[in-house]
Amino acid sequence: MTRSTILGVGSYTPSKVVTNDDLAKLMTTSDEWIHKRTGIKERRYIEHDDIGASDLAIPASKAAMEHAGVEPGDIDAIIFATLSPDYTFPGSGCLLGDKLGMPGVPALDVRNQCSGFLYGLSVTDAWIRAGMYKNVLLVGSEVHSTGIEFADRGRDVTVLFGDGAGAAVLGRSKDDDHGLLSIALHADGTGARDLCIDAPGSRYMPRMTHDMLDDGRHYPKMKGKQVFRWAIDKMPEVAHEVLDKAGLGIKDVDLFVPHQANMRINQLVAWRLELDEEKVVHNIEKYGNTTAATIPMALDKAFKEDLIKKGANVLFAAFGAGFTWAGAVMRF
Ligand code: ACO
Repeated sequence: MTRSTILGVGSYTPSKVVTNDDLAKLMTTSDEWIHKRTGIKERRYIEHDDIGASDLAIPASKAAMEHAGVEPGDIDAIIFATLSPDYTFPGSGCLLGDKLGMPGVPALDVRNQCSGFLYGLSVTDAWIRAGMYKNVLLVGSEVHSTGIEFADRGRDVTVLFGDGAGAAVLGRSKDDDHGLLSIALHADGTGARDLCIDAPGSRYMPRMTHDMLDDGRHYPKMKGKQVFRWAIDKMPEVAHEVLDKAGLGIKDVDLFVPHQANMRINQLVAWRLELDEEKVVHNIEKYGNTTAATIPMALDKAFKEDLIKKGANVLFAAFGAGFTWAGAVMRF
């Protein structure tokens, strides 16, 4: 059966650089605290309001299409992974299709946070292998800066997140030895309330009240230590799972592109996998955690730095809210 493969990638980040020192002017924190615990030095924010996740996705998608050598008219479907959609509904994929001039092209939003890109990759792979679509635009895009709290109450989460977008065009691989070799998805909702935005929500009548706003229920809440512990267990576990499925071992991995929630998480995961630190792609220092956009952004960086040679086995792993986690192996 034909495998799917990434034909091209692209990314985009807004121009506004926000350093740890900038955040320290707005809340009780410091460059030392943030960098030591997370590896983050700076992140990007949208320059002004009225820029949504679909807007950041436009240049990222155009770059991915150019890299793949395809035109908007060659795209048969869009998958848009985000936890920060432009609207509660409709999905940002519909908005992106409109902005790219793709009337009639189906668009599916994926709401799986940091694992969103890999969940989207799995759907993309199934569509392509089934012969349903030839070329799929898979996007991860986030605007976090309009939804985090710039005060001491939210500082644990606020310092982590940045805005950005990454995109990939997927199509059929030229042969069965290349392309997506394996993929695995997992979820465990017992952790749902350890990392979530609680309101507005369909459980509440009305969905949002002044009291909820005053209590900051519309901001993300996280039990950081709990999430950290799960991430350092589940990311190595799923990495082994997809390597086993692909019939490969750790020694066969040429590059590891993990989700970037915390540099310490990725260093520990690499250590547990007994993977050479030089094979791990990091971009968290400059961009923070861009959730669903992180993996395609990091992959784009790897391409631009010429880290992905012909025939390279690239391992992906992600963990995030849900809890959800996922892994994949692709041979380029
Ligand atoms: N600046 C300064 N101090 C802070 C900050 C901050 N930004 N945030 C919290 N603190 C304080 C806390 O209040 C606490 O103070 P106390 O000891 O007086 O109570 C102290 O620092 C230590 O706080 P911890 O939460 O114990 O810090 P920890 O070492 O666990 O690091 C961190 C926090 C960086 C958030 C870490 O837990 C982490 O990275 N967790 C995983 C995050 C993650 O993977 N998220 C998933 C992806 S996101 C998604 O899917 C949507």
